[in-house]
Amino acid sequence: MAPTLVLILAAGEGTRMRSSLAKVLHEANGRSMLGHVLEATRPLAASTTCVVVGHQRDRVRTHLASGYPDVRTAVQDEQHGTGHAVRVALEQLDADGLDVHAGTVMVLTGDTPLLTSATLDALHRAHVDAGAAATVLTAIVDDATGYGRILRGADGGVLGIVEHKDATDEAHLAITEINSGMYAFDAALLRDALGRLTTDNAQGEEYLTDVLAILRADGHRVAASVVADADEVMGVNDRVQLAVASRLLRDRVNERHMRAGVTIIDPGTTWIEDSVTIARDVVIEPNTFLRGATHIDEGAVVGPDTMLRDCRVGAAASVVKSQATGAAIGARATVGPYTYLRPGTVLGEQAKAGAYVEMKAAVVGNGSKVPHLSYVGDAEIGDDTNIGAATIFANYDGVAKHRTIVGSGVRIGSDTVIVAPAIIGDGAYTGAGSVVTGSVPAGSLAVARAAMRIIDRWVLRRREGTTSATLAQAALERDQG
Ligand code: UD1
Ligand code: CA
Repeated sequence: MAPTLVLILAAGEGTRMRSSLAKVLHEANGRSMLGHVLEATRPLAASTTCVVVGHQRDRVRTHLASGYPDVRTAVQDEQHGTGHAVRVALEQLDADGLDVHAGTVMVLTGDTPLLTSATLDALHRAHVDAGAAATVLTAIVDDATGYGRILRGADGGVLGIVEHKDATDEAHLAITEINSGMYAFDAALLRDALGRLTTDNAQGEEYLTDVLAILRADGHRVAASVVADADEVMGVNDRVQLAVASRLLRDRVNERHMRAGVTIIDPGTTWIEDSVTIARDVVIEPNTFLRGATHIDEGAVVGPDTMLRDCRVGAAASVVKSQATGAAIGARATVGPYTYLRPGTVLGEQAKAGAYVEMKAAVVGNGSKVPHLSYVGDAEIGDDTNIGAATIFANYDGVAKHRTIVGSGVRIGSDTVIVAPAIIGDGAYTGAGSVVTGSVPAGSLAVARAAMRIIDRWVLRRREGTTSATLAQAALERDQG
């Protein structure tokens, strides 16, 4: 049976981040820490998921509204401890008319981005299977500094938790099994125990951890589920830990792709967000960043030094040293080096966007090439067309954007400026250096540049005594010779 409620504590300030942004909103490999926790909770399919907010509640709420509209929030105005946070949240949910009196309540924290759904599922199962009043997720760690220590009885059963700051007994401080801060509780027993918490401790707070000893003293079963990989419950308190968590998340994603048949040349410099999908036999070269809803088809080679967000890369395409957002790159197309593709760019099969080319809202047909130093904006280009070096699609008149349509089999000469709106018919040519205004009929040549003028012996007359003039004089004498 799915949990009644998943409660995620995130009201604290996160002082050690030294940030104007709430701690749980800091990102690790492209997703907020809170987002990572929420993703991990999804498969639990809890009836209600609620985040306890306090510091920067509006920003946290805005963040939730954009990505997790089904997640509720409860406000803890002043932070008087983890037990207080849960108590206040349950009271609010109750007042909002939610039934939080029965079933299982799971309590998590918003700053553990490495948590997986498998671990949450194991915690939930262990709790249900044991018929426990409370089950705590624990971890065995090398350095337990700062964590609550798990006290176990002679029979191995959990007696309670001692906070580091409250531990006076050396034997307690030596315990290496720590409280992850994640639990499953019987809803009714939790509420009852929360009502009996005191603030009689080192921090003067209502400790959620004390609920375990209270339930145990009442004669209820308190269980523990030990996480297999202690990294999973690592809480992020500062930016050093944020970087460590980000690396671990990166490694996890890279490993998944490599096991599924993707070659990643240098996993240490390859950052792929969880949302990205990659087919078999793709090669990712070093220093590559794949973000958002990016998909790479079989056999494509991406990188080095490439950043793609929300892009589709077709089979056997090649993208080198480039940056693209919202672009679709066709099968066997080539991009780069130093290419910038902006949203709405669609490259057909075997199309080319070469060195120092920028495109925006440009649809380029199959086999068409924009090989060098060009800007193509708001354009549609047919098949097998070549856009000469340094061509500019002048799409903006200072007020509005205009479109250009270029047909198939077209040859645009180098250094052409096409002033939009314009239509270039199939098989048309433009002369190098032309400024094309208006349309060019199919099969025509458009030349729009001043005719060349020769001013005879200008250098000899006007630059007398220079190297140019001397060499010119010699050449002319040789020719006459
Ligand atoms: C808590 C546990 C400790 C455990 C550790 C795991 C208690 C008393 N101690 O300690 O046993 O080893 O987590 O990381 O629970 N929060 C609120 N409102 C509050 C206080 C805290 O929402 O009034 C939130 C914080 O934003 C944070 C989480 O609860 O996300 C944990 O609070 P924190 O103060 O970091 O607890 P720890 O001292 O780390
Ligand atoms: Ca903490």
